[in-house]
Amino acid sequence: MKIIYLLLIQIFLFIPISAYSQQVQKSGEELFLEKRCVRCHTIGRGIFVGPDLNNLKNKYSTEEIIKWAINPQLIYQKKGKVPVNQGFPPMPPMNLSQSEAEKVSNYLLNFDLKDGLSEKGTIKGTIVNETTSQNASDVEIVLRSYLGDVEQGESFKKVDANGNFTFSGLDWNRSYELTVLYQQAQYTSSKMVFAPNQDIISLELPVFNSTESEKNISINNLHVIIYPASDEKSVSITNIYELLNSSNTIFVGSKIEGDNSQRKTLAFKVPEDAKNVNFLNGINPENVIKNGDKYFDTTAVNPGFRNVVLSYELPLQSLSTSLKIESAYNINSLIVLKKKDGVEAQVEGMGNSQEVVIENDTFDKYERSGLSKDESVLILFDGVFVFREFKKYIPIVLFGIFILAGIFYSRFNSKSEPKDCVYSREGLIKEIARIDDLFELDGIKESEYKIKREELKNKIIELNIKK
Ligand code: HEC
Repeated sequence: MKIIYLLLIQIFLFIPISAYSQQVQKSGEELFLEKRCVRCHTIGRGIFVGPDLNNLKNKYSTEEIIKWAINPQLIYQKKGKVPVNQGFPPMPPMNLSQSEAEKVSNYLLNFDLKDGLSEKGTIKGTIVNETTSQNASDVEIVLRSYLGDVEQGESFKKVDANGNFTFSGLDWNRSYELTVLYQQAQYTSSKMVFAPNQDIISLELPVFNSTESEKNISINNLHVIIYPASDEKSVSITNIYELLNSSNTIFVGSKIEGDNSQRKTLAFKVPEDAKNVNFLNGINPENVIKNGDKYFDTTAVNPGFRNVVLSYELPLQSLSTSLKIESAYNINSLIVLKKKDGVEAQVEGMGNSQEVVIENDTFDKYERSGLSKDESVLILFDGVFVFREFKKYIPIVLFGIFILAGIFYSRFNSKSEPKDCVYSREGLIKEIARIDDLFELDGIKESEYKIKREELKNKIIELNIKK
């Protein structure tokens, strides 16, 4: 999928170079945490989603553990059964490299459960209001536990006067998620698990003062990529937004009438007749609601940048299909990339284009800085598909034109009265215009066009002389 590459390139354009971390040698323990083994396995603390990985040396050879870490199918094929351990689901392939799998296997075989560990785990932390730099008191916090994706229970706590909270007595073989509702915005931590030999997870949960005003929301960059859709009767549009909340407050949007639980936050304008509208990145499609010609996210917008990718298809119904690029927020920099082959369109209000090649595809690139939310850029499609369909009828149309031309010539030849000549002259000019159009639409060969045009021109000159 070329377009996916394209998106990746575009998305990477937005990521600062510093985000690429250097390749560092990881230890077996680090890999066990990072490669998500820890999300399904404890070592010596009971079964979790998968079996307890303690004392593996009594059960498997080093080679076999390596195979588990790379792809359990290698074990399943050899043993001829799935799963190996009764009562468990099959383990998904984790695709570790050989050397990573060796390190993890080494770690597992030499693992020592520390002495003096607690019976149960503790998650504790502080809620910090990043807008005021003060700890947030008087806040309720919810802890949910999960086995895989299935919720196992929840408990509630109020943070103390210093913004601190502690949940203790937690089972090792669960994952945990914290949720806080603070000034109309909901904050949810990522899922946490206890690492082998870990008793306490401590963390700081940042929250912000909230605002209903969208004045700090803008689009730092918008890239609009236009290319032919697979059905040839539409164009595909992909918008890549780099959104910015430039304040130190969270944007919680406004209430939706008649709905107490949801709020409208980020707004995205999409043409009414757009099809297959999809949020591919940056916004959870489950949280999106449609309201008129806008799509709204319903989750709060944290300070800082966010990349959102939105794609849709625009049916090319007539020669006059157009796309208005506009936004609910001011745009700092706008780039339109239009695939050269397959999409005939004029981009208005963006100046001249420049040719760029991305992944073997050539695009016309239009650039402009600054597009306020009251302004728009118009893209007029020259009916790509309409003409493709039209091509089928070219022979008939040409035939029709020749017959008409035939009638026209005979009339012209038989009558030479000046009055008729004036009429004929107009007809000739119209005919020139018509073959010009035809030529532009590729409906006539260049050589043929030139000859015909020359003929018509000569007739006009002849007429003028006769006059
Ligand atoms: C999504 C959950 C999940 C993840 C992630 C996962 N495993 Fe597993 N693992 C399982 C399940 C379930 C089984 C039991 C499958 C079976 O018996 O066929 C299992 C079985 C195993 C076994 C065999 C245990 C035994 O007693 O027979 C090993 C070894 C193992 N996993 C290692 C790993 C390693 C190493 C990783 C990380 C690279 C990992 N697993 C990541 C779910 C997971």
